[in-house]
Amino acid sequence: MQGSLRSQQWFGKEGKDGFIYRAWMKNQGIPSDEFKGKPVIGICNTWSELTPCNAHFRELAESVKRGILEAGGFPVEFPVMSLGETLMKPTTMLFRNLVSMDVEESIRANPLDGVVLLCGCDKTTPSLVMGACSVNLPTIVVSGGAMLTGKYNGRDIGTSDIWRFAADLRSGAMTEEDLNIAESGMCRSRGHCAVMGTASSMACMVEALGLSLPGNAAIPAADANRKVLAQLSGRRIVDMVREDVKLSDILTRKAFDNAIKVNAAVGGSTNFVIHLTAIAGRIGVPLDILDFDRLSAAIPLIVNLQPSGKYFMEDLYYAGGLPAVMKELTEYLDTDLMTVNGKTILENIQRASAINREVIAAFDEPFNQQSGIVVLKGNLCEAGAIIKPSAASPHLMQHTGKAVVFEDIEDYKKRIDDPELPVDENSILVLKNVGPKGYPGMPEVGNMSLPKKVLAKGITDMIRISDGRMSGTGFGTVVLHVSPEAAAGGTLALVKDGDIIELDVQGRVLNLQVDDQELAQRKAAWVATVSPHDRGYVNMYVNNVEQAHLGADLGFLKGGSGSQVLRDSH
Ligand code: FES
Repeated sequence: MQGSLRSQQWFGKEGKDGFIYRAWMKNQGIPSDEFKGKPVIGICNTWSELTPCNAHFRELAESVKRGILEAGGFPVEFPVMSLGETLMKPTTMLFRNLVSMDVEESIRANPLDGVVLLCGCDKTTPSLVMGACSVNLPTIVVSGGAMLTGKYNGRDIGTSDIWRFAADLRSGAMTEEDLNIAESGMCRSRGHCAVMGTASSMACMVEALGLSLPGNAAIPAADANRKVLAQLSGRRIVDMVREDVKLSDILTRKAFDNAIKVNAAVGGSTNFVIHLTAIAGRIGVPLDILDFDRLSAAIPLIVNLQPSGKYFMEDLYYAGGLPAVMKELTEYLDTDLMTVNGKTILENIQRASAINREVIAAFDEPFNQQSGIVVLKGNLCEAGAIIKPSAASPHLMQHTGKAVVFEDIEDYKKRIDDPELPVDENSILVLKNVGPKGYPGMPEVGNMSLPKKVLAKGITDMIRISDGRMSGTGFGTVVLHVSPEAAAGGTLALVKDGDIIELDVQGRVLNLQVDDQELAQRKAAWVATVSPHDRGYVNMYVNNVEQAHLGADLGFLKGGSGSQVLRDSH
């Protein structure tokens, strides 16, 4: 065993090199026998006080370490760049791929045999998993858990209510003072957003893929069982190293299929599409955007959590957690697949059951037949666009309307409340240049607020179309990820005010009803904007980012380079 450990290429050496590898580590008070053939486990930590959702991760890391020590491993915690959704500008998505590079190179360059990824706030999960996939060591994910449910004026609230509060403030139904009271009741404990937003969807994703211990997705951050799960994960990763269970052993094509079906059943985030596609690209599993539609078509919504439903992650935990959800899907999942605990999905969910049918429905009595992600095609989105029907308004699912076009987000902000804007509830709001290249970084602005004069009529939803993303906590009849994006010369760039757009969710159609000749003329007159980012990471990002339907990874990061270090300077 000792000779086969990757870490022994450092710590098992004799002479000057071994001296250097071990001696400096010993300044942390590590005895000599720690270096003699124990599996060295890296704990990749996204702790940061600037990522409030992950601010409890140093404590969580201690639980992981305890487990690693108990199992005879040697834990080493290391930081990577953290992505705090609420504070970072211009958008964390711009940095997802950067963090994945940090993670990949940190793992490969160091004497690690296995890795525990501490993930929480939205992008901290896909970025860490992407980076780890490109190295492909034994790896286990520990999510940080969701916050306790928020409270305001005697009712439960979560991040999805921000959009309602914003509309109420704009319509005058809420005052700034009301908003301040809600603000203090929103985030009552450690943890990430308490709705089925992107962070929760990512936690479900890793559990459905088999990358975490069962139960990982729903245990609240404040619950003592979160620490138990972290400790057990620490124990397990040591055995995974001994058994040589790599990420590629877990992340088979069928595991991705399972994750897509589970995301549909829980009403997961639209961001799931872009992140899972990017992860598949790193581990070398072919995944097409149409797979998301095809595989989720038979799966109804069986989890009643905001933004598609009523409840919160805490309620999902008390109702049985993700194992109970997956049990309902038994017939539709590939339950023979192996997971990180060495057991199959079937073994993991065998004892699970839905305790509260208000939160987890039986498969044949779902909360909504519509679930998952619908992929639209048409001349307005030749490579695809997505919509989440469970978060949309049924009366807008088939609609033809006139476009009201905003060239970029600044244009939108400037004009949306202009009383002269020719817009009503039948119009379709079109926002350009918020895609991967165009913004750059594809921000979560797709569910743009409605014009004040439409809100004043009591209207709460309109069709909105953009090449951007939407917060996983957002809702509405919102068409996202239009590809190719406007900045890459997609048809979206050519839409003009008053053009007729046809959306037919059932028929999977998004068409701009402008004839081909006129479109060709507009295309000939279209001039690409020159990116003002002429240096640094953002320049590299703009020049290499792929379109949304491919996962918006940097093209040269696709695939992996394994764990072998090719040169040795010592
Ligand atoms: Fe971190 Fe929502 S802000 S998960």
